[in-house]
Amino acid sequence: MKIAFVLNQQPVELEIEPCETLAETLRNRCGLTGLKVSCEVQVCGACTALVNGLPVSACTFLAYEARGREVTTIEGLAGKDGRLHPLQQAFVDEFALQCGFCTPGMILAAKSLLDENREPKDADIIAYMDGNICRCTGYLPIMNAIRRVAAVMRKRATGDDPTSARSADLGSR
Ligand code: FES
Ligand code: FES
Repeated sequence: MKIAFVLNQQPVELEIEPCETLAETLRNRCGLTGLKVSCEVQVCGACTALVNGLPVSACTFLAYEARGREVTTIEGLAGKDGRLHPLQQAFVDEFALQCGFCTPGMILAAKSLLDENREPKDADIIAYMDGNICRCTGYLPIMNAIRRVAAVMRKRATGDDPTSARSADLGSR
């Protein structure tokens, strides 16, 4: 079957199998291997992609369900100039990754959280990130990275730190 959707801000049209998962489509047809597949049963979050801004487990989300929607993967977050998205930079700065296997999913889930809630409390972060598992880093640096970006956004909102306005922009680029 043929489907059309927007992938990382570019329109795409693909021929897919009806039973194909979004993870298979993105990795095998589109070459977007930032998205990882691990448990394949919607438990670990390694395969997280954003569909219309919300996280989905691409290992169980059928690709045809993406038709007419906007799909974002980790490859779509950096700026056109190659500058990392603020969350990507914060994960680097806070040493929030080791093997990196969970990181694309973590960052996309965190983006969705901060798009939804610009002032998350720790409990909000923990609850929202509940579906994303990391086997190596420990969760504190990941929390710190998300807190760091949230703090920049708060300063921006209150006008305390106008120089950070650009880096706090979490919109897709
Ligand atoms: S691979 Fe999809 S949730 Fe684990
Ligand atoms: S950094 Fe290795 S699984 Fe999270």
